[in-house]
Amino acid sequence: EADTLAPDEQIYHYQDDRDPKCPFAPPPKLRALNETAPVSRARIWDGSDHWLVTGHAAQRAILSDPRVSSDDKQPGFPYPNKPMADTAHLHPLTIFNADGADHTRIRRMMTRPFTRPRMEALRPKIQQFTDELIDKMLDGPKPADLVTSLSLPLPSLMICALLGVPYEDHEFFQEHAGLATRSDKTTEEQNAANEALGGYLARLLQKKMEEPEEDVLSDFAARIKDGDLTLPEATLLSMILLIAGHETSASMITMGTALLLENPDELARLREIDDTKDAQNAVEEILRYLTIAQFGQRRIAAEDFEFEGVQIKRGDGIIVPLPAGNWDPEAFPEPEKLDLTRKATHHHAFGWGIHQCLGQQLARIELQVVYGTLYRRVPTLRLAVDRDELAFRPADALAFAIPELPVTW
Ligand code: HEM
Repeated sequence: EADTLAPDEQIYHYQDDRDPKCPFAPPPKLRALNETAPVSRARIWDGSDHWLVTGHAAQRAILSDPRVSSDDKQPGFPYPNKPMADTAHLHPLTIFNADGADHTRIRRMMTRPFTRPRMEALRPKIQQFTDELIDKMLDGPKPADLVTSLSLPLPSLMICALLGVPYEDHEFFQEHAGLATRSDKTTEEQNAANEALGGYLARLLQKKMEEPEEDVLSDFAARIKDGDLTLPEATLLSMILLIAGHETSASMITMGTALLLENPDELARLREIDDTKDAQNAVEEILRYLTIAQFGQRRIAAEDFEFEGVQIKRGDGIIVPLPAGNWDPEAFPEPEKLDLTRKATHHHAFGWGIHQCLGQQLARIELQVVYGTLYRRVPTLRLAVDRDELAFRPADALAFAIPELPVTW
């Protein structure tokens, strides 16, 4: 492999961070790669080097290439962090690490509740929850933390309603979902959190086998009864939906608000929008700009093949940092410009190819409703602290986020 390695200074190091003066933009060294070549090399936490696919067109091609695998049990897989590497041999087959026919089978069991018409039917409920949460925030003390007032409860209420998980238990599962997914937690902490969450969901599934309702867990419970799924499989599917549906949407609400407050002209434009189509465009552009799945999707080559002028060998690790594709000037001219009228629907904020986000319609509608409601209802909304005081999660966290956003009005 030695002949394919770039000189050391040309290797992108995954600990490279964002520019504190411009924290919404991808790390400068990552952006710089868009000027050089669509494919280069990256070094990760364990010192190993992998292919780094940064160009927008190249990302699209590699993420839909059947010669590329998500199987995280393959030797050489570019794990995002040590806890994931240490536990990879224990990872069951899930929607995330399955390829081909296995992936299709698993994904099919999860898609029905996430179809566009079913999601659209939830819009009035999303609007109602949003209005209620904003009412509550406005009735409470100033400043308020937007994360606990709106960003977390809204997606949480929605995913609970969809799955049939009691929202009263949200503190328990939010805490454990956080522990299970954060890269600064030890393997033991992550395992304990996973077990607690799994036990909770397994008990709930058993209950739904006795007393089914109109929700996803009851759907899974019926499949257990029919012999299509085992209880551990259904537990895992439920856990994935519960975790994936939370922090991502929450982070987009928080980060989107922080970004808009820094771009008052665009925010003013957003307040004027009353056409759903325009609101949809605005959401796509904010998704592109922030690309909160910031860390790079991880894959491994299942065959030798030539790609963008490089020779990829079977077993080579491949990393696809979505922010780089979404800031590639070839696909998005002047990418540093937040332009809510831009046609940005070809962005990769939800990934691309067979693993493209299952919950994207739900997330989109949540964001359309929140961005379309919050700034209109609270036109004087502003940060209650200096922007410099906001703690942005570093570039080596899986999802880009601001854990706390003090706002006033
Ligand atoms: C996959 C981002 C919300 C469930 C993905 C992927 C990305 C992503 C980038 C691709 C992973 C890969 O290629 O390896 C986001 C963002 C969200 C969001 C930015 C919010 C704004 C949600 C919600 C749910 C969800 C609300 C569930 C209710 C999933 C699942 C997958 C996935 C199950 C795996 C799909 C597969 O492997 O076939 N998401 N997501 N996501 N997302 Fe989301």
